[in-house]
Amino acid sequence: MQNVTVVDHPLVQHKLTIMRDKETSIAGFRVLLREIAHLLCYEVTRDLELEMISIKTPLETIEAPTLKGKKLVFASILRAGNGLLDGMLDLVPAARVAHIGIYRDHETLQPVEYYFKAPADIADRLVIVVDPMLATANSAIAAIERLKQRGANNLRFLCLLAAPEGVQKFNEAHPDVPVFTAAIDSHLNEKGYIVPGLGDAGDRMYGTR
Ligand code: PRP
Ligand code: URA
Repeated sequence: MQNVTVVDHPLVQHKLTIMRDKETSIAGFRVLLREIAHLLCYEVTRDLELEMISIKTPLETIEAPTLKGKKLVFASILRAGNGLLDGMLDLVPAARVAHIGIYRDHETLQPVEYYFKAPADIADRLVIVVDPMLATANSAIAAIERLKQRGANNLRFLCLLAAPEGVQKFNEAHPDVPVFTAAIDSHLNEKGYIVPGLGDAGDRMYGTR
């Protein structure tokens, strides 16, 4: 049984279709990624624990629910993760942020790390790792290993598109980390791109090639 949730909400699927379209502009792609991040964030945080606190409304004192525990950490795998990160922070503005600079070598498809910065007390927090694409899963697996080395022990991985090969490899490497995605596509091509996919997420967000 795979540890993966496909967020099949109609709004997510509608927006994803526009993002897949190669005629969608850079500006449109960026806005849609931020909007989809709102909907995915809603799902990935659905089971967060609440606790009751006492507050005074203008009319009376009540016990009301609030998020329990330490603030979340959103860990963005650069560059493309930042597109999801922005939308996540719209909904959870007090979240802490980790940045993990990783790109995949185009020849070997192996991850190359160039930056890492994370909150010191990451061991005490839920860490939601974000990157739009889970292709071979090499980047995501490396990012999670790095976070675990730093003490993270309560993690989730959120992406927009996944390849079946990537989901399987990720589940084998990190069975304790649930994956949330808007879709699982057909396969990876010989260059490691998700098919049908949406192309290179970073390039489509930033207008690079
Ligand atoms: C993309 C994507 C993931 C990675 C997925 O990043 O954002 O990080 O590829 O591929 P994988 O599952 O096969 O590792 P890329 O390496 O293009 O870097 P970028 O975000 O800087 O463009
Ligand atoms: N990275 C991307 O941005 N797109 C893919 O299809 C695979 C990896």
